[in-house]
Amino acid sequence: MSNFEEKINALLRPNIRALKPYSSARDEFKDSSPPLTLHPPPSTFHPPPSAFLFLDANENSLGSPSSDDYSRYPTSQQMLLKAAIGAVKDIAPGQIFLGNGSDEAIDLLLRAFCEPGRDNVILMPPTYGMYAVQADIHGTEHRQAPLRPDFSPDAQAVKAATNEASKLLFLCSPNNPTGNCLPETFILEMLRDFPGLVVLDEAYMDFSTMPSWVSRLPQFPHLVVLQTFSKAWGMAGARVGMAFAHPLIISVLNKIKYPYNLSTANIRLAEEAIKNEAFVKRNVGALLAERARLEKELPKLACVKQVFPSDANFLLVRMADADAAYRFLVENGIVVRNRSKEPHCENCLRITVGAPEENTRLLHTLDKYTPL
Ligand SMILES: Cc1ncc(COP(=O)(O)O)c(C=O)c1O
Repeated sequence: MSNFEEKINALLRPNIRALKPYSSARDEFKDSSPPLTLHPPPSTFHPPPSAFLFLDANENSLGSPSSDDYSRYPTSQQMLLKAAIGAVKDIAPGQIFLGNGSDEAIDLLLRAFCEPGRDNVILMPPTYGMYAVQADIHGTEHRQAPLRPDFSPDAQAVKAATNEASKLLFLCSPNNPTGNCLPETFILEMLRDFPGLVVLDEAYMDFSTMPSWVSRLPQFPHLVVLQTFSKAWGMAGARVGMAFAHPLIISVLNKIKYPYNLSTANIRLAEEAIKNEAFVKRNVGALLAERARLEKELPKLACVKQVFPSDANFLLVRMADADAAYRFLVENGIVVRNRSKEPHCENCLRITVGAPEENTRLLHTLDKYTPL
């Protein structure tokens, strides 16, 4: 057993280490057959007499009452989609986990590595709220190593919060809701010193000038990088998230996921999207131009105190009175996120960069608002 395999085994919850995973009908068939089953044929498909009849999964061979046919279970390992993503991201399909949003990967990492009531995870608030919520759901302590008031990370605070039961360190870069990236030196220090897995959430990375850490996975087998189709790829409704990691970590996530965690519809939509990177790059360019416009125009408004620099598709904006500004925007049909209760985010709204006409409406509306 390699050193890294030993490390992963030591980090895993004992019940997950010992788990015999559910084996689906199609998994078993695939084990004894050519890779023809990656996509089971639709029920409307009439196979030649020599081809397979799929009578193994208790599906309904007469079809489904929807315009597209969904009567067959989807592929459980999504190998075609993983191959297409791997080609775009330059990574082997065996190092990719696909989930129902990247939220599923966060959930599964907690389930695999954190013994409820015993282990803990380290968070750096203000950050994405689901890390804490999912840890709470899972009965896992989350220890805080808050960012400094200028939103830079505090390595000493992470060290102070970490103990022998610390299994996961959640880093978010660019960070939600502050918008800034974590410095490379800090991430390297965490990769060197943190005893568990370092989970780097790159949900907003496509809006940043910083390079992704996916290409550095070979150097850091205990790094897990999360990305998603929900942001730059414009597919939030499709619910497809990605985790990139060492094949051993990916095999753990695959072992404990629901057998058919992505629906046929999710998979088809993501397969269509991944072929259209040029469209995504154009849209990212347009959103970055709009972000620059808002960064320039918002500070001119009387109600705005500070616009924080952003590497993401949103801006954190300190208002004279965030609660009042939030209410005024809602009265005028505009919904933003009030982040005033987060550490170091007093009077801050998080505003998503919208389409050009949406941003113009936001600016006009805020221009009409006078803080008391
Ligand atoms: C930092 C961060 N990570 C993950 C997610 C969840 O993304 P998904 O839609 O892939 O579940 C979000 C969603 O807002 C986010 O802000």
